[in-house]
Amino acid sequence: MFIISAHGAVEVTLKITAVLLAAGQGTRMKSELPKVLHPLCGKPMLWHVLEALKTVTTEQPVVVVGHGAEQVRKYVGNSAECVLQEPQLGTAHAALQAELLLKDKTDYVIITYADMPLLRGETFKQLLETQRLNAGPLSLLTVIADDPRGFGRIMRKADGTVEAIVEEYVATLEQREIKELNVGAYCFKAEWLWDALHRIEKNPKKGEYYLTDIVELAVRENLPVQAVVHDDFMETIGINTRVHLSEAEAALRMRINHEHMLNGVSMMNPASTYIEIGVKIGKDTTILPNTYLHGNIVIGERNTIGPNTIIRNTTIGNDCKILVSVLEGAVLEDDVDVGPFARLRKGAHLKSHVHMGNFGEVKDSTLHEGVKMGHFSYIGNATIGARTNIGAGTITANYDGEKKNPTEIGEDVFIGSDTMLIAPLKLADGARTGAGAVVTKNVPEDTLVVGMPARAIRKVERKTKKQDP
Ligand code: UD1
Ligand code: CA
Repeated sequence: MFIISAHGAVEVTLKITAVLLAAGQGTRMKSELPKVLHPLCGKPMLWHVLEALKTVTTEQPVVVVGHGAEQVRKYVGNSAECVLQEPQLGTAHAALQAELLLKDKTDYVIITYADMPLLRGETFKQLLETQRLNAGPLSLLTVIADDPRGFGRIMRKADGTVEAIVEEYVATLEQREIKELNVGAYCFKAEWLWDALHRIEKNPKKGEYYLTDIVELAVRENLPVQAVVHDDFMETIGINTRVHLSEAEAALRMRINHEHMLNGVSMMNPASTYIEIGVKIGKDTTILPNTYLHGNIVIGERNTIGPNTIIRNTTIGNDCKILVSVLEGAVLEDDVDVGPFARLRKGAHLKSHVHMGNFGEVKDSTLHEGVKMGHFSYIGNATIGARTNIGAGTITANYDGEKKNPTEIGEDVFIGSDTMLIAPLKLADGARTGAGAVVTKNVPEDTLVVGMPARAIRKVERKTKKQDP
């Protein structure tokens, strides 16, 4: 970061580093999974905090790990440096674990808790800006709220300056009435921080070292502490229980949905529209209620999606209609219509103007332009040529009990209702099958095949047998 000094254009590069505290047990979550790895709109809590901090820091962040350290480290990978806090003796003790890595290496340290996933980058920026103008060693983020949610209360002196943070369990009844709360984000002058952390005393009641005590420490030394009073309580939801998690999820979902709506996407009921982080949707697309968009999704313009639709890791072009269906790992080009009750699985590729009606399933198959597959069909490991019609109840019998076999169907083919296509199989352009045909041999161009009643041809060996009683 560059700053221009008051005297002229002197540029100074400031180093700003974030320390995220994520070592706590998260007991109140009652979970095997470390708290910070619980997902919110598709990404772990920790991801959200790291993402917000990226916008304001200049250095690699430090994550303090403890409970579930291996899992957290694995998730973090090389997106941050991890330090171990063992045993976990409180938030000040946690912050101290970063000393070795950061001492004399950075100008400012932003310390925050990894269980505050809704804080925005801009909020951290405000905090940093406030601290840059502060002659004292630290600034912190506070919020005014009616529901204290167990947060520490901000004590202010008669002159309005911050005096201390009082944790709820030690607060007097009077202090509990204080509406200004400690959010859990602090910006420090690095040169002051480390020594101050060492001077924090063990809390006599809990036997822990509290980071919040650092405020009193500065005040006792007559060093000014600044507070950024935040006005959006929703952004400061901290997660201690799964109830908080669901509240944060709802708040984040609204944030995501608002962004899409402001970009030109219509939603009939955003409260029942579940869109994960990173989903891309083009303008004039409408998302109807009870639709879930998970993972890596790109959706073009003027589509109508839903209601009651689940889509995962899928690409959709323009002008498509998806009604009451489940799509996973699929690609749809333009003007495709799907559903109701269709299922597209991994490797389903529906080219332009494909119509896939009710109760169909497609997996690992390409349906070329204009293919029609209206009712009750299964297409697996197949390619289907342009304009081919798949009659009701058609099945590609692609699995022989050991391996998947391909079916190749040409262009302008007409598959009669209830046809069984026993793969491996090829039907050339213009071929036709009669209703109920069981096709076991390749069909040449422009040829009609019919029939094949079932008949015993040989004994088979059972794979599983009824157990003797
Ligand atoms: C903390 C604050 C409180 C604030 C609230 C806001 C303290 C003492 N209290 O309370 O003032 O209003 O957050 O969310 O700081 N952690 C460690 N090592 C430890 C203990 C905790 O890394 O030894 C981590 C936790 O994993 C968690 C964070 O620090 O991410 C906060 O700890 P938590 O126990 O959730 O503190 P709160 O009770 O929420
Ligand atoms: Ca917390």
